[in-house]
Amino acid sequence: MDETVKNAVDAIKKKMDIQPTIAVTLGSGLGGLADHIEAEAVIRYEDIPGFPTSTVSGHAGEFVIGHLKEVPVIAIKGRFHYYEGYPMQKVVLPTRVISALGVKTLIVSNAAGGVNTSYSPGDLMVIKDHINHMGDHPLIGPNDEEIGPRFPDMSTAYDEGLMEVAHEEAKSMGLQLQRGVYAATTGPTYETPTEVRMFRTLGADAVGMSTVPEVITARHAGVKVLGISCISNAAAGILDQPLSHEEVIETTERVKTNFTELVTRIILRIETE
Ligand code: 6GU
Repeated sequence: MDETVKNAVDAIKKKMDIQPTIAVTLGSGLGGLADHIEAEAVIRYEDIPGFPTSTVSGHAGEFVIGHLKEVPVIAIKGRFHYYEGYPMQKVVLPTRVISALGVKTLIVSNAAGGVNTSYSPGDLMVIKDHINHMGDHPLIGPNDEEIGPRFPDMSTAYDEGLMEVAHEEAKSMGLQLQRGVYAATTGPTYETPTEVRMFRTLGADAVGMSTVPEVITARHAGVKVLGISCISNAAAGILDQPLSHEEVIETTERVKTNFTELVTRIILRIETE
């Protein structure tokens, strides 16, 4: 195992007695789910060897490990974004760590701009596929055969069964759930209207600045993935108004109750099936 991952895993194992098989990455403004976890351990990134200290405001950096309605889970609260200047190896470090800790299912969430013109701010979207438009890749470099193959298959990056569960639970809640393609850019700028048109032409429904490296890394390790985007705003050129981070946060605040309930229901279903 990679030395950095091993040291982080050893430090975390000392502080946890439970064995979660489900982890959930909480995107911008969606961290509230962690408040529903009966925490056994809250481990700040700054206390984990090899972890950088996240700097972007509004992004706490910690693992919340405990029970969500009796189900053992790890909440990954706070990401290392590529736009912050972290190399891909750091961006995917939390993913590598939870995978080495024995997690088998990863639920990733994010705030994303709507590229599909039929989407509205506040919609939740199950990610059915992605476009890696970051111009970098977390698996470049020597391959660790113990983790996974040199050339991982991405034809089923997002688990069909988990998507189905998400749609069933959304239906029981009376919640509309979109299903679309997520394109990842490096940021930190939002796109130009022409770039948004390009992404639409390429088949994207939403665009954001995260998630794809984590999904690639998880799939390489054989971890199943469910992705959920909160459409926080229309991407550039759709509405006659500028984009702002404030709008992103306002929308995720508005949606977080539904998001939390949906993800909690999905986690309960995964555990009982
Ligand atoms: Cl419009 N673009 C990107 N790249 N990320 C976003 C976004 C847009 N809205 C929220 N996150």
